[in-house]
Amino acid sequence: MKVLVLHGPNLNLLGAREPEIYGSMTLSDINTKLIELGKEIGAELKCSQSNQEGDLINLLHDAQQWADGVVFNPGGYTHTSIALRDAISAIGLPVIEVHLSNVYAREEFRHTSLISAVCKGKIVGLGWRSYTLALRALTEMFGQ
Ligand code: DQA
Repeated sequence: MKVLVLHGPNLNLLGAREPEIYGSMTLSDINTKLIELGKEIGAELKCSQSNQEGDLINLLHDAQQWADGVVFNPGGYTHTSIALRDAISAIGLPVIEVHLSNVYAREEFRHTSLISAVCKGKIVGLGWRSYTLALRALTEMFGQ
């Protein structure tokens, strides 16, 4: 199985950015963990991060050509981007939405996700484990 792991804006700062909310692992630590897990469970990963909405859309479009599924943390765009929602709908791949923090225990504007309705599922609040659980779920569901 081939999986795109996609990280949105500000996630390049993980480790240094509000560690009490997002944890102390860097983005590269998380990607390494995911790639190792992928090897164990039979998933080949490409990991990308962008702070630009258009780049994220292009990466989703490209994924349609090679990926079987996507693990996606859209960061702040979760709460604002109709364009990302449309891209997810358009590509027709199973996408799991992930968030490190429990967005429902935070400011009200984080309680709304414009993308959840077009995602296969969603995992929030479990730190880096939100990503590993999403990858496990995608892999288990693949081909079923
Ligand atoms: C986040 C939650 C978003 O509300 C926030 O804008 C982020 C990170 C998370 O992983 O908890 O950038 O997606």
